[in-house]
Amino acid sequence: MTPRLPRDRTLHTAGITGVGMSFPERRLTNADLEKMVDTDDAWIVERTGIRERRLVEPGTGASFHGALAARQAMEHAGITAAEVDQIIVPTVTPDMVFPATACLIAHELGAVNAWGYDLEGACSGFIFALQNARAQIEAGHARRILVVGTEIMSSITNYEDRNSCILFGDGAGAIVVERVEPERLGIIDAIHHVDGVGIRFLHQKAGGSVMPASAATVAGKLHTVYQEGRDVYKFAVKGMAGVTAEVVERNGLTGADVDLFVPHQANIRIIEAAQQRLGLPDSKVMITIDRFGNTTSASIPSALRVACDEGRLREGHTVVLCAFGAGFTW
Ligand code: UT7
Repeated sequence: MTPRLPRDRTLHTAGITGVGMSFPERRLTNADLEKMVDTDDAWIVERTGIRERRLVEPGTGASFHGALAARQAMEHAGITAAEVDQIIVPTVTPDMVFPATACLIAHELGAVNAWGYDLEGACSGFIFALQNARAQIEAGHARRILVVGTEIMSSITNYEDRNSCILFGDGAGAIVVERVEPERLGIIDAIHHVDGVGIRFLHQKAGGSVMPASAATVAGKLHTVYQEGRDVYKFAVKGMAGVTAEVVERNGLTGADVDLFVPHQANIRIIEAAQQRLGLPDSKVMITIDRFGNTTSASIPSALRVACDEGRLREGHTVVLCAFGAGFTW
């Protein structure tokens, strides 16, 4: 079979030049959850790898930590808010249904020359937004774009459902994507998928146009995450491992060429499946799920920041990012 090679009609090269993150102080530990639902620390750690997550105080919107993460990313990249051309915000928990959280973050930052929008790709939202940013820069439509993955998952989590409430946390991660000189490398390749077969396994029933909010939807807790975890798990293992191997192999690389694998943090066992497929040692795999849980679109950019802070990510490294989420998207 002829490999699907990426088209090369680019005018410019796009690279990630700054990363940032912001998390609330408040911790929700497995011990705390033991007091809320019928669960235990050993089950959660063994099945998911999660030990604690961060939660905001009620009333905090996604833009709050999003703006803080964005500031840190801009500082890291050495750019000012006025130099940002676009802000893309992947999120499933925007401050409001409208306007876009991107508008709120632009206002908070004083990014007076930027336009922007929110993007709904669930747990793959950050990866999808990165591809949008890359395309805009390669085509010459923008020089500097902020991608801000920010989530208040606690606002859509049912803390009476042990199947899902143990999984999610709040927080934000942000990156600056910039036009870079080709010799500084930049983004090499990407593969994206959606498949609506996943709709029934992972969704939020109410609050959209099909089922607007009513007293009954609130009473039924239909504004929270509905997930058939076991089914999602099977698709996630196949999707994450498959697409990660495909993007590496079609570029003539192997696991030995990869310096760091930064996967979406949904379940340690899903990450390990992708890790094994590439034959990567633990030292090349970023794990932050133990401390932050699943933060949806914030997990990859915040893990990139942790990697920088821990000295595991440096300019010139070959990095693979991968996610799987509702839709399905991957
Ligand atoms: O990020 C977006 C995409 N989402 C994902 O990637 C999530 C994918 N799914 C998963 O990560 C896993 O399916 C879960 C972590 C959600 C669940 O783990 P699992 O190993 O698939 O467990 P299960 O749903 O098959 O449940 C096994 C048992 C059940 O009991 P029975 O029916 O065997 O008696 C559950 O009722 O574990 C029970 N269980 C729990 N027990 C203690 C479910 N939740 C809990 C809990 N504590 N919190």
